[in-house]
Amino acid sequence: MAAKPDARVPRHIAIVMDGNGRWAKQRLRPRTFGHHAGQKAVREAVEFCLRRGVASLTLFAFSSENWARPEGEVSALMELFLKAIDREVAELDGNGVRIRFVGDLDAFAPALRQRMLGAMDRTAGNTALNLNVAVNYGGRWDIARAARLAAEAAARGEFPLADLDEQRVQAYTCLADQPPLDLFIRTGGERRVSNFLLWQLAYAELYFTDTLWPDVDQASLDEALEDYARRERRYGRTGEQVATG
Ligand code: FPP
Repeated sequence: MAAKPDARVPRHIAIVMDGNGRWAKQRLRPRTFGHHAGQKAVREAVEFCLRRGVASLTLFAFSSENWARPEGEVSALMELFLKAIDREVAELDGNGVRIRFVGDLDAFAPALRQRMLGAMDRTAGNTALNLNVAVNYGGRWDIARAARLAAEAAARGEFPLADLDEQRVQAYTCLADQPPLDLFIRTGGERRVSNFLLWQLAYAELYFTDTLWPDVDQASLDEALEDYARRERRYGRTGEQVATG
């Protein structure tokens, strides 16, 4: 008999990796130095999820609002993504990680978009961990796109427009084929969601830490999971109902 998944371990974790710029500033270095350092924490998070049997890890790498940052920082981030794909994909593939870039990829330069599509193709058969990298992503964009795709399906006659309900919209959101989001983590001290995964956050547990992203390691992720394990998830029911199953 297959082992029952441990309900205290989240199946799907999403992370807003905040604090790279401040981490660099503390060291009197440019912000891009912090983004480079942040890559090590990305590896820590991937290793952690593989070790703990988490099914999906979704990272907010570049929001649709991040284009407004100084041009030099945006191009440094693009360069960093390109190099990270070239450097990391073989090892991720070897570890059974399925990579998906979620967001509006049309805005990226063709070379970078090709690398993203190549990494997705190469790892499409892997099942150990879904690594979703949100780039040029916004939660409102995801919801609006899903609503449009559902409406288009209705217009094609796939179902009556009157049946366009939550389930239909959900089916067209970016992470529809993955486990529901259990745990949302934001590092760097801010207590906000910043237009990440708005639809998917409906019943997620929220965890905020002051740790700056480049300082995140196995111990800080263990702390987040220990905190999560203490939460009582009621989904609208009473505590007594939850206790008696
Ligand atoms: C937020 O910190 C971080 C980002 C906008 C970039 C995240 C990118 C990485 C961690 C690089 C590696 C990622 C992948 C997937 C290869 P901030 O710059 O807003 O920090 P601040 O709030 O201290 O200014």
